Amino acid sequence: MPLVTTTEMFKKAYEGKYAIGAFNVNNMEIIQGIVEAAAEVKSPLILQVSAGARKYANPTYLKKLVEAAVIESGVDIALHLDHGESFEICKQCIDDGFTSVMFDGSALPYEENVAVTKQVVEYAHARGVVVEAELGKLAGVEDEVNVSAEDATYTDPAQAVDFVKRTGCDSLAIAIGTSHGAYKFKGEPKLDYARLEKISNLLPGYPLVLHGASTVIKEFVDMCNEYGGDIPGAQGVPEDMLKKAATYGVCKINIDTDLRLAMTGAIRKNLIDNPSNFDPRKYLGEGRTAIKDMVKHKIVDVLGSNNTL
Ligand code: G3H
Ligand code: 13P
Ligand code: ZN
Repeated sequence: MPLVTTTEMFKKAYEGKYAIGAFNVNNMEIIQGIVEAAAEVKSPLILQVSAGARKYANPTYLKKLVEAAVIESGVDIALHLDHGESFEICKQCIDDGFTSVMFDGSALPYEENVAVTKQVVEYAHARGVVVEAELGKLAGVEDEVNVSAEDATYTDPAQAVDFVKRTGCDSLAIAIGTSHGAYKFKGEPKLDYARLEKISNLLPGYPLVLHGASTVIKEFVDMCNEYGGDIPGAQGVPEDMLKKAATYGVCKINIDTDLRLAMTGAIRKNLIDNPSNFDPRKYLGEGRTAIKDMVKHKIVDVLGSNNTL
């Protein structure tokens, strides 16, 4: 079974009011942990690769690892470029066999975002690949780009309609208060559901995407810190808020930070508890199990995409 696009996954998710998890991958243990979890609970998956992941692992290695995961698991997997920042990187991933790409023109002036997204859509659609675009600006850190809360701008509903109509993008990432990384809210966590509902009503049947959707679960922050870490005051999006978002047309929910925390906590603990061990398989294996447990929890208790394969 080959890699799939997100078209069918999103259609079913929209109708069923649940979301598909899009998890960031950087190495073999992360891919295996995520895919084993999805296979066990019978959920489709989006595995996404950032520019940083491409640089770290080499795109060929990542592609081959994901292909191996498809063969081993029988899970429907879409291979997606996360935050593609130019037409060229999107083209490269499409040419490399990705089934989905994101062009992130959220930092560009509106008309430029429209023009490049449209260019990516034309190239992608001619090759059977789907495109996610972004409108509005999230706060937080992606690769080395840091957007302060003051520079973040929420998505304008009317502009979202114009954008989708003019670009033909297959899904749209919107800004309603989430942000990347472990520090998402200064005070109470708050999402602009009124805005989300408006966008969703103006684009009936259309899949929306939520970036920066990690919950930053306290247990794992504490675990990292208990074993020599220093992660103060981290705060994410409460899980019930994500469940609610999925009922308003959010079909793709992006999670990276929660996986990083789970893996790092488990590896820190294993290394401290076993100071004489120097077999990487022992601590990386613990990291893989932690990823698997976290992804199962997300799929079953938050996203609701289990038993949909
Ligand atoms: O949105 C960013 C993702 O968490 C990926 O992070 O760019 O450090 O690989 P990265
Ligand atoms: P988190 O940092 O909240 O996990 O968001 C990840 C993300 O949006 C990847 O594109
Ligand atoms: Zn993101």
